[in-house]
Amino acid sequence: MDRILIRGGRPLSGEIPIGGAKNAALPLMAAGLLTAERLVLTNVPQLADIATMRALVAQHGVAVEPRGNDGRTLAIGGAITNTEAPYDIVRKMRASVLVLGPLLTRVGEARVSLPGGCAIGTRPIDLHLKGLEQMGAAIRLDGGYVHASAPQGLHGADIVLAMPSVGATENLLMAATLADGQTVIANAAREPEISDLADCLAAMGARIEGIGTDRLTVEGVGRLHGATHAIIPDRIETGTYACAAAITGGSLHLRHARLDHLGAVVRVLAEAGVEVTEQDDGVTVRRLNGLHGTDAMTEPYPGFPTDMQAQLMALMSVAEGAAMITETIFENRFMHVPELNRLGARVNVHGASAIVRGVAALSGAPVMATDLRASVSLVLAGLAARGETLVNRVYHLDRGYEAVEQKLAACGAAIERLPG
Ligand code: UD1
Repeated sequence: MDRILIRGGRPLSGEIPIGGAKNAALPLMAAGLLTAERLVLTNVPQLADIATMRALVAQHGVAVEPRGNDGRTLAIGGAITNTEAPYDIVRKMRASVLVLGPLLTRVGEARVSLPGGCAIGTRPIDLHLKGLEQMGAAIRLDGGYVHASAPQGLHGADIVLAMPSVGATENLLMAATLADGQTVIANAAREPEISDLADCLAAMGARIEGIGTDRLTVEGVGRLHGATHAIIPDRIETGTYACAAAITGGSLHLRHARLDHLGAVVRVLAEAGVEVTEQDDGVTVRRLNGLHGTDAMTEPYPGFPTDMQAQLMALMSVAEGAAMITETIFENRFMHVPELNRLGARVNVHGASAIVRGVAALSGAPVMATDLRASVSLVLAGLAARGETLVNRVYHLDRGYEAVEQKLAACGAAIERLPG
């Protein structure tokens, strides 16, 4: 297994290109199952999770072909010859469950492995299943699989989500596009990735109102056609590199990044003493003077994202004063805390909140992480720490950050990948 070695203490400066959003690309690839024509996606990031989704979509019989030579354009579409999403793929990536809605609405059946638990919590899919049942699907759980069928097709329904789940909103939105009649999804999640999916579905011929709001209304159509869609820039990658600039006391230009997608991240960073300004082709991030301890609570968009919680904690660990960081989305998302403490941070967890007492300096150590965002928080801490930090289990990072060590090294970080 590869590891990443960092010699910390160098302020970063320069430019980092922000790639397409992983969490937009994954549902958009699943949306390719909705049409026999070609859905062409551009700005696809090169990540392990994307390779997993390619394999999943392809094993349903649908073509997934690279176009052009940049490796960032994929054409997806064709006949569905297999409606099973097997355990071997789903266990690697929970987002695999996003094929359920498209398969069911297009061909009337799907068999999808239950994703099970993951490092950051139990993460059930009950809201996905309940919504599909309201749309007329018969659902049975057996042998670790969801067996879903709707031989006559799905019909429209009034669905009120008990909580604004990102994945459930996406699955039900895709299912509704080909259902018979009108579907309303109330208390829908409003993440920019959902709007990106809805915009693409609309370009494929879906009839959707309320895009960007918590109430999506979909008028089902008989079929969807091909389209070309450019994936939005990754707001979590943007926020992560903003924290890299801040924690090293540097300044970075994040090319292609969109300020309007950052939601509460900009406000929290500003309170902490980090300036984020919009430019023509991205955003620029600069630490003004010292860092100040700033409280934050994770919430659905436009609140502070749970996918930025670990990175903010790394930043707060070297801020002046204390910060209280509260996690409200996932019940077990503080696994980075003991690892940050190994680097000299002073973090105590009390239930869903972590108290971070800033220290003057961190000191490098070997660390390892259990999930994607936890891993990158250790990279951030390593960039600020004195001495050497060795981050193990880099495969977590490769799921969601493209060329992380190259992008950071190009801006002055002493960072290298040690092949395993
Ligand atoms: C997506 C993101 C993930 C992010 C999360 C929250 C993708 C591929 N992943 O995950 O990076 O951290 O949103 O912003 O886009 N829940 C239920 N029942 C359900 C579905 C969800 O109880 O049927 C709960 C979950 O356990 C969790 C909360 O709802 O506590 C939010 O989960 P959800 O928004 O569904 O996250 P994901 O779509 O899995």
